[in-house]
Amino acid sequence: MTTALAVRYARYGDPGVLSLDAVELPEPGSGEVRVAVGAAGVNPYDSKARRGLYASAGAPAEPARVGLEYAGTVDALGPGVTAWSRGDAVFGLAPGSAATHVVVPADGLVAKPGWLTFVQAAALPVACETAYRAIRLLEVRTGDVVLVHAAAGGVGLVASQLALARGARVIGTAGTANHEFLASLGIEPVLYGDGLAARVRTIAPGGVDAVLDASGRGVLPVSIELAGGPERVVTIADGSASQYRVRATWSADLPLPQVFQTLLPLVEQGTVRVPIAATFPLEQVAAAQALSESGHLRGKIVLTVGSPD
Ligand SMILES: NC(=O)c1ccc[n+]([C@@H]2O[C@H](COP(=O)([O-])OP(=O)(O)OC[C@H]3O[C@@H](n4cnc5c(N)ncnc54)[C@H](OP(=O)(O)O)[C@@H]3O)[C@@H](O)[C@H]2O)c1
Repeated sequence: MTTALAVRYARYGDPGVLSLDAVELPEPGSGEVRVAVGAAGVNPYDSKARRGLYASAGAPAEPARVGLEYAGTVDALGPGVTAWSRGDAVFGLAPGSAATHVVVPADGLVAKPGWLTFVQAAALPVACETAYRAIRLLEVRTGDVVLVHAAAGGVGLVASQLALARGARVIGTAGTANHEFLASLGIEPVLYGDGLAARVRTIAPGGVDAVLDASGRGVLPVSIELAGGPERVVTIADGSASQYRVRATWSADLPLPQVFQTLLPLVEQGTVRVPIAATFPLEQVAAAQALSESGHLRGKIVLTVGSPD
């Protein structure tokens, strides 16, 4: 068999359960393309899935793949694909992207502009799509005071910058190590944890107009308190949302190319910046996920396949 490599795990557990396995080279079907992956973003979802948080019980039915997003080069076209050519640089969302190759629907690809490296492009899909979805749900507009929990993380950082671009004032929770960085982007930092409501009221005595919970660490009650109700609170990370009558959003609501039609110009102008916290070669995926699970990142972790840029 012609082989590819893919990160997989056959049982749930610590990062040590991950292995880089030889697998059959996937062939694109009708309307699909195969991408030779140059870089793949790392997300908290990868570690949560590996720990079995989304499984009812037992081991994965078959070795599970890892990863959600990638940047790379089109290297094979399935029947009927005319919009792309071999060699095109692209990025997008794909389950199992921590691999040398992924097969994806041709209509979900975004063309990678030359001014983005593969590493930079692989850091964008999840953070940008999720943040854009949340900011639209919150209907953030000029003059709003918006509180973003976990503002230095992948999603929180993009959401904060999108809210600023809409003319909002943004208050972001973060550890003290990230305060100067957030302030440099125009985000007003406050420390998360006990006493948060009082710290926010010190700088926003009237409370806030809207809240994005990108933390998922039990911040819905304080968010409702500060926003004066659950109507303009949205979480992307707290499964108890319905208990608080807060809206939660879990999956994309727009095609990715449409999302990036709006967001790529903002990335190019520097209105939206997604810093790379660290890169690891694909072989070191366990170390990458361990760092992701440590929970204190500024921006994104990205896996590299070969020497992509
Ligand atoms: N629903 C969806 O569609 C969707 C999509 C993507 C992600 N998510 C979820 O959204 C969450 C954020 O994802 P992400 O990729 O942005 O994660 P991430 O980049 O790993 O976020 C890490 C951030 O969390 C912050 N943090 C750590 N402890 C905190 C605390 N006690 N209170 C507040 N913030 C704290 C850290 O801030 P400091 O470094 O400043 O301490 C760090 O900047 C995850 O739970 C993820 O699974 C959901």
